[in-house]
Amino acid sequence: MHHEINLDKLDQLKKGDPENMLEALSGLPTQCQDAMQRARAVNISFAADFKNILVTGLGGSAIGGDFLRVYGYRKCTLPILVNRDYNLPSFVNEQTLVLAVSYSGNTEETLSAYEEAKLKKAPIVALTSGGQLAERAKKDGIPLILIPSGLQPRAATGYLFLPLLVVLEKLSLLSDIAAEIEETIAGLADLSKAISAQVPTENNPAKQLALRFYNKIPVIWGVAGTTETVAMRWKGQINENSKALAYFNVLPELNHNEIVGTEVPEKFLRELEVVFLRTEDDHPRVQKRFDITKEIIGERVGGISEVWGDGKNPLARMFALTYLGDCTSAYLALLYGIDPSPVKLITLLKNKLAELPEA
Ligand code: F6R
Repeated sequence: MHHEINLDKLDQLKKGDPENMLEALSGLPTQCQDAMQRARAVNISFAADFKNILVTGLGGSAIGGDFLRVYGYRKCTLPILVNRDYNLPSFVNEQTLVLAVSYSGNTEETLSAYEEAKLKKAPIVALTSGGQLAERAKKDGIPLILIPSGLQPRAATGYLFLPLLVVLEKLSLLSDIAAEIEETIAGLADLSKAISAQVPTENNPAKQLALRFYNKIPVIWGVAGTTETVAMRWKGQINENSKALAYFNVLPELNHNEIVGTEVPEKFLRELEVVFLRTEDDHPRVQKRFDITKEIIGERVGGISEVWGDGKNPLARMFALTYLGDCTSAYLALLYGIDPSPVKLITLLKNKLAELPEA
């Protein structure tokens, strides 16, 4: 099959990736260390008696909130919700911790939600690299975690997720996170070597997966409470990096609907490449569900692969799989001869909206 770029030719990879997405990805473990330092250095304390936590943001800045939500299932006694909108849900009040996240600091939905949180007198923490959000937080005397600019938001996951954990720890809403985070970063450093551009396809699981996805429609199936956000992230990264269509869903829910939708149209079903995201943290019955699902749909779709998240703890396993998906999506972009970095259609849409009068 013809590929625009040979993944084992470093000069071709470099030429196809002029804004260095692969380099940004290989810097993730260092980014995570820096993110921890920056967040730990900020003074955060509120008198509030918190009842719930809300992360507000969009796209690459919201997904950190979803990782936090899933992490919170195991570790946090308060409900954590993610808001991807101009408005806030009506339960938000002075007992809601609002984490306003925008990498650029200029996303209009997030700025609108920030203003609404202020009106509702919710304690707010801002996480951004600058822009309006940083300006407003400084002016309003709101704790601000500043991260470096110059990355694509989706390549700044360390900066956009780990500080949220640190904020919750500082406010005693989470405890004992240090060891888990350290193991996670160490795991990412090992994985970074295993799936980097220098490692040839025959030993590189990210390059191998990219080849399986080439000219197919990736369908990513994760698991509620463990890899649900990872599955959503794989889809988003394939969309934004590879500029390709992709879908995701989660078990056990998909066993109650999507599995039935694998009979017609046959010609499209053959084009699907289904990937199961698995970890030892999945419920034992879900493990069985994966096996049975594979038996049932194996003949109906183009291909099925399974990838396992390895690591010393659930957070490490979640991030190992996330990182694998990030690198796979960048390699897939390169196979198509597509520059993984720019997201022209998001920029076009934001520019068109900026030309309109404010509502
Ligand atoms: C681009 C990306 C987008 C942005 C989103 C919100 O890499 O990932 O999904 O994250 O358009 O923008 P920010 O993150 O600046 O608030």
